[in-house]
Amino acid sequence: MNFWKNLEKPILALAPIAGVTDSPYRLICRESGADVVYTEMISIDALYYNSKKTLQMLEFNKKEKPVVLQLFGKRPELLPKAIKIVEEFGYSGIDLNFGCPARKVVAHEGGVSLLKNLDLCRELVQSACESTKLPVSVKTRISIGKGKKMVTVFDFLEKIKDLPVKTLMLHGRSYEQAFSGEPNFAEIKKAKQMFSGIVLANGGINSPEDAKKMLELTGADGIGLARGIFGRPWLFQQIKDYLEKGKYSEPSLSQMKKIILRHAKLNEKMKGKHGIIEMRKHLCWYFRGFDGAAKFREKFVRVETIEELKKTLKEFK
Ligand SMILES: Cc1cc2nc3c(=O)[nH]c(=O)nc-3n(C[C@H](O)[C@H](O)[C@H](O)COP(=O)(O)O)c2cc1C
Repeated sequence: MNFWKNLEKPILALAPIAGVTDSPYRLICRESGADVVYTEMISIDALYYNSKKTLQMLEFNKKEKPVVLQLFGKRPELLPKAIKIVEEFGYSGIDLNFGCPARKVVAHEGGVSLLKNLDLCRELVQSACESTKLPVSVKTRISIGKGKKMVTVFDFLEKIKDLPVKTLMLHGRSYEQAFSGEPNFAEIKKAKQMFSGIVLANGGINSPEDAKKMLELTGADGIGLARGIFGRPWLFQQIKDYLEKGKYSEPSLSQMKKIILRHAKLNEKMKGKHGIIEMRKHLCWYFRGFDGAAKFREKFVRVETIEELKKTLKEFK
C-alpha cells in the first residue's frame, strides 16, 4: 500500500500545480522521467458535497501511477467521506495542503494559514490517517508570520510527530516570500533531520544544476518540481542524466513536437475541444525563448483543433 518505500532515491516528483498538473500533463511528466506525480489541489468540501466538476477532475489514467491526490480544506469532519471517494478512483496516496498562499484560500483560513492553528492541522492529519490505508503526505512552507507570531514547519512537524505521515514536500520559502527568492536550504536540511519520513525539497528548481544543488545542500530524499517544468517535462530526465552521468542534452525540435502533439491528443481525448483551449498556455511555454516564438505564440493562442496544431507545428522550424 505504501508505494513511497518502493521508489528509488533521489525521488523526482511533479509538485501539485493548480491549472497545470491535470491528468494529461501528469502522464506526460511520468513518461518524461517523473517518479511520482501530484494532482492539482482538490477541495475537501467540494468532494464532500459531490461537486460534479470536482469529481470530473478526479478521472485519471492508470499509467500515471503512482499518483498522489492533494486535498485542501479545513474541516476534518469532511475528510472520511472525501477520502473514500478518492480511494474509489484508485489513487496511490493522499496529500494535505498546508502551503497554498492564494488569497482566496488564505482568506478562508486554508492552505498555509492553517499553520496558525496547529491543533486544527493535527486534527486534519489525524483524520486523514485514520480514514485510509493509503499513505498520507503533507506539503507546507518554511514558515508564516513574523517575530513572536511566526509559526514554522518545525512547530508543525512537532505537532504531528506521532502520526504516521509518510512524506513531507517542503517548499523552502516562507508565506511572506510567496514564490520568489532563494529557497532556504538550511531550513529544509533541518526539517529532513527532524522528520522520520521521506522529505521532498521544493522551490526554485529550474535546471539539473539546481536539482543537484538542492539535493546536496539539504540531504533531502528527493525533490518536487513546479514552475521549472512549465513547457519542459523533459527536465525530469535531464536531472536523472545529470545526477547519473554528469551531463544531459536538450531534446531536438522534432522530439519536442512529438511530445507536444501527444500532450495535445491526451488533452483532447480527456476534455474534448476544451482540452485544446487548455493546451494553449502549454504551447506558449513549450516555445518560450525560441527565436521567432512571438509570431507563433499568436497562432498557438488561437489553436482550436489537433489539425491546426499539427499545421502550426510543421511551420515552426
Ligand atoms: C500556478 C501555481 C499553482 C500552484 N498550485 C499548487 C497547488 O495546487 N497545491 C500546492 O500545494 N502547491 C501549489 N503550488 C506551489 C508549487 O507546488 C510549488 O510549491 C511552488 O511553485 C514552488 O516551487 P517552484 O519554485 O519550483 O515553482 C502552485 C504554484 C503555482 C505557481
